[in-house]
Amino acid sequence: MPSRRRTALALGSAVAAIALLAAPISATAEPSPYTTGADGAGDPYFPLAGNGGTDVLHYDLDLDYTPAPPDPAPIEGHLDGVATIDLVPTQNLSRFNLDLRGLTATVVTVSGKPATFTQTDNELAITPTKKLKAGKKTQVVVTYGGTTTRPTDIEGALYGWVTTRDGAMVVNEPEGSGTWFPVNDHPTDKATYSFEITVPEGLVAVANGLPSDPATTVDGKSTWYWDAPDPMAAYLATASVGDYVVDEYVAENGTPIFDAVDPARLGAPSEDLALTSDMLVFFESLYGPYPFNSYGAIVDDDSVGYALETQTRSFFSRTASEGTVAHELAHQWMGNHVSPHRWADIWLNEGWATYSTWMWTEHRGGDTAQVSFADYLTIPADDPEWDLAIADPGPLGLFANPVYDRGAATLHALRVKIGDEEFFELAQTWVERFGGGTASTADFIALSEEVSGQDLEAFFDAWIYTPEKPVSW
Ligand code: ARG
Ligand code: ZN
Repeated sequence: MPSRRRTALALGSAVAAIALLAAPISATAEPSPYTTGADGAGDPYFPLAGNGGTDVLHYDLDLDYTPAPPDPAPIEGHLDGVATIDLVPTQNLSRFNLDLRGLTATVVTVSGKPATFTQTDNELAITPTKKLKAGKKTQVVVTYGGTTTRPTDIEGALYGWVTTRDGAMVVNEPEGSGTWFPVNDHPTDKATYSFEITVPEGLVAVANGLPSDPATTVDGKSTWYWDAPDPMAAYLATASVGDYVVDEYVAENGTPIFDAVDPARLGAPSEDLALTSDMLVFFESLYGPYPFNSYGAIVDDDSVGYALETQTRSFFSRTASEGTVAHELAHQWMGNHVSPHRWADIWLNEGWATYSTWMWTEHRGGDTAQVSFADYLTIPADDPEWDLAIADPGPLGLFANPVYDRGAATLHALRVKIGDEEFFELAQTWVERFGGGTASTADFIALSEEVSGQDLEAFFDAWIYTPEKPVSW
């Protein structure tokens, strides 16, 4: 085993030992005390992302939004929200947190009773009048609101609720959801969602899943209703707003499609977007049934500088090229249905999505995956491309090029090593076994070894743990 895995195991058993020590010794266990839920989910890359002590089941988000006024006014909008959150305490709780940033909570109730609360940078700390018992489902209602701006992530890229003149682009990877609703913002706490989004008449509000009711218009405001019943990580939630043109159809595999395209971008992406139906059929043949109730694209005329695989409704900045359409669709299986357990596991998202476009290109008669792989390996050994151990890229390296391309090359090398049959069995078992939840790099290595019957320690050491160009594996 490579040393890192040994460390992880050692840590695991140390934690188990501590848990044993902490367990009550007498047979008549003392009731465990009521304590404060942690302010983070325990992800080393983003210590304040998510929270401890609660498991959210459902978010019902009732939003009322006004975009920024015309130029030259500052690009600031206004958002008022009521978030109704069903959750289960995972410990006896005297207090617990939700992530909320840049917006102000005004009223909080827990189980229908007013609660006290305080807000700091990324945290809304809630003290219910009556303490919460582990395992007993409760409902938290947060009324909140404020001015929306154009938030940026630790790399300086736009993310979260990004205000535009004609709406908002809403893309939260990795931990930007707190810029628009109170949330347990970590992939390990997936939940279902419903939305009721009110915007000025003439604008379209597009969220995840499918419309649950037709939009209604009263007094110059339209309300859009969405239901997203498939468990979803918070970074994949969206509620983008724009003067979109809507196109609804059913793909060849039976998946209902809802596309929303800015009129200024209608000509450009249509041919590439139209390949979605064929791509669904192709990726189902590789990875198994499409995991969600719907799909579609949001193409905005504003840009955050990248595309995002928002669940069931991928977001594209201005253009949706064929490669990007394939990439974001493949993420629905790889990243969305099976999500990273920790943000360090991001290469499994981006490697699979990138490798999927290599396979799509081959399917379309372009370069074979083998040619794309060989091309990548022409990068000289002293190139900085090889300086990143992609299994631990660091919070600033989440979207670095090697996470994508070396990730894809790792998967191709694995395919060659274990054989096509085993490789696609691995892909499908991965989706089947971990779909609906999260999985780690250690889970992937273990499953690869299980399916292939091979010892893959040296392989993964060379490809994902060593910051050098792999020479033998
Ligand atoms: N997951 C997105 C994709 O596959 C990339 C998100 C990039 N985000 C960023 N802040 N640079 O294309
Ligand atoms: Zn991606």
